[in-house]
Amino acid sequence: MVTARTPLAQHRAAPRHRSALGMLMVLLVVVGGTAGAAIGHMTAATAQAPAAQTVQEPAGPATATALPAPDIDAVTAAAPCENAKVAQALEAGDPDAVIEAVGGAEAFRGHVATGSAPCIVLSDGRWPWLVVNKHLTLDPIDYVPENLTAPDRRVTTSSVLRAEVTDAVNRLIADAAAEGVGDIAVTSGYRSYGLQETLFSGYVNSSGLEAAEATSAHAGHSEHQTGLAVDVVPCSSGCGTMDDFGASAQGQWTAENAWKYGLIVRYEEGRTDTTGYSPEPWHLRYIGTELAAAYHEGEFHTLEDFFGLEAAPDYE
Ligand code: DAL
Ligand code: ZN
Repeated sequence: MVTARTPLAQHRAAPRHRSALGMLMVLLVVVGGTAGAAIGHMTAATAQAPAAQTVQEPAGPATATALPAPDIDAVTAAAPCENAKVAQALEAGDPDAVIEAVGGAEAFRGHVATGSAPCIVLSDGRWPWLVVNKHLTLDPIDYVPENLTAPDRRVTTSSVLRAEVTDAVNRLIADAAAEGVGDIAVTSGYRSYGLQETLFSGYVNSSGLEAAEATSAHAGHSEHQTGLAVDVVPCSSGCGTMDDFGASAQGQWTAENAWKYGLIVRYEEGRTDTTGYSPEPWHLRYIGTELAAAYHEGEFHTLEDFFGLEAAPDYE
């Protein structure tokens, strides 16, 4: 059995104490109203523990009287899991509201990457920020998504996706056709744990273990098991194969425009050392429009880098 690993940032121990000078500097940043933005722009390598945790500790008398009272919104924005709006949005299952309450997509990414948002669980398939790879397992491993619906254009009649993903893919396909790029159809969407297990075994039998692991996930490690991933093919008179997609006009347009629909090309060329998979220009992963815009803007190429996670080239 493969075990899940925690994001690197979450392994970092919180400091046990801070100096008075450090406390004052952190408080100045927070009352300046810039804590969320500051954390949002930190990298995983350079970020420190969340400022708000320090602000909530008792301050010395000189500090408390010399500065205005902290802005509560700014303080809670820097400790998102203590923010009532974040808690309500998580309870309501509303990802857009969660991201907004955290302070926007870049702040959200920063908090996840620095480990300051433990209430954001990457292994939970209900959320568009899910990460599964060769180190991270779905929790539960046999997770089954809800609200599966059929996209308008599909090669395989059994293909279904999460409703919000179906909507995004339908719009992407319609816009590509309207812009004269060409037709695109869905060839694979949601796959159960059992189906993924069968597919992987089939690849091992036909091509050997090494080739299978470069192209197919173990059951419990596939984005397809969440209904958030979709494989697409180019079509003209008939539909081609997934291998035809990358070099096609449709594939090139999709690589440039998918983010506008909340989708990313999850396994890009040159990223196998991080993702563990050969390039798959046909495999689109829904992360929502806010996070996809931040991913595009930040010129990220893997979800592992986006969320400050370790590379996952192999099962451990
Ligand atoms: N082909 C991708 C990696 C999957 O099996 O989920
Ligand atoms: Zn796929």
